[in-house]
Amino acid sequence: MKRIAIFLSGRGSNAEALIAACRTGEIDGEVVLVTGDNPTAPGLAKARAYGIRTEEADPRQFASKVDYESHLLRLLSEAGTDLICLAGYMRLVGPLLLGAYRRRILNIHPSLLPSFPGLHAQEQALAAGVKVSGCTVHFIDSGMDTGPIVAQTAVPVADDDTADTLSARILQAEHPTYVRAVAAYCRGDLRWEDGRVLGAGQEGI
Ligand code: GAR
Repeated sequence: MKRIAIFLSGRGSNAEALIAACRTGEIDGEVVLVTGDNPTAPGLAKARAYGIRTEEADPRQFASKVDYESHLLRLLSEAGTDLICLAGYMRLVGPLLLGAYRRRILNIHPSLLPSFPGLHAQEQALAAGVKVSGCTVHFIDSGMDTGPIVAQTAVPVADDDTADTLSARILQAEHPTYVRAVAAYCRGDLRWEDGRVLGAGQEGI
C-alpha cells in the first residue's frame, strides 16, 4: 500500500476524492499527510475531518524556497511518503523536492495539456474558442504544467459556458480522472516508454 502526501492551496475537492478512494479501496493507498502553502486552505480542514495529519506550511515564514521545501521534505520523510499528489497546489515545485521525488509527483490541471498551461486554464480555453476541453493528470517536471501525461478526460465546451460553468464541468471530470491515475500508480500499472507514461487507461472515448 502506497503512502500518499497531498499538497493543496485551496478548496481541496480533488484531495477529498483521493482520500475517499483510498478509504473505499479503489486506490490501494493511504493519505498520510496533507499540507500546502496556504494555512487557511479549506482543504486542510477537510482532511483533518477525515482524521488525516495536516501541516500548515507558510512559505512566507521561511527565508528562501529551499528552506521552505526542506521543511516539506522533512514532513514527507517523517510520514514515509511514497507519492506526492498536487491537488490545486498553486506553486511551482522546486529542484529540491523534484530531485527527492523524481517521477513520484503527480499534478492535476484543468485543461487538456499541452493546451492552456498555467493560471486560469478554463478562461484560456474559452478565449481560444475550443469546443472540447478537459483535465490532465501528469508527472511534474521543472516546467509549468509540462511533465509527462498520465491520464486525460475530455469534456465539451458549450456556447454559453462561463468560466464558472466550464470549471464545474471540468472539475466533475477531474475527480475520477485523478483517482484512476493514482490507482494505476499504486497498482504499479504505470510504465514509461520513450518518455511517455502508459497504463492508466481511458475514459469516455
Ligand atoms: C482544480 O480545478 C485543479 O485542477 C486546479 O485547481 C483546482 C483545485 O480545486 N489546479 C490548477 O489549476 C493547478 N495549475 P480543488 O482544490 O477543489 O481540488
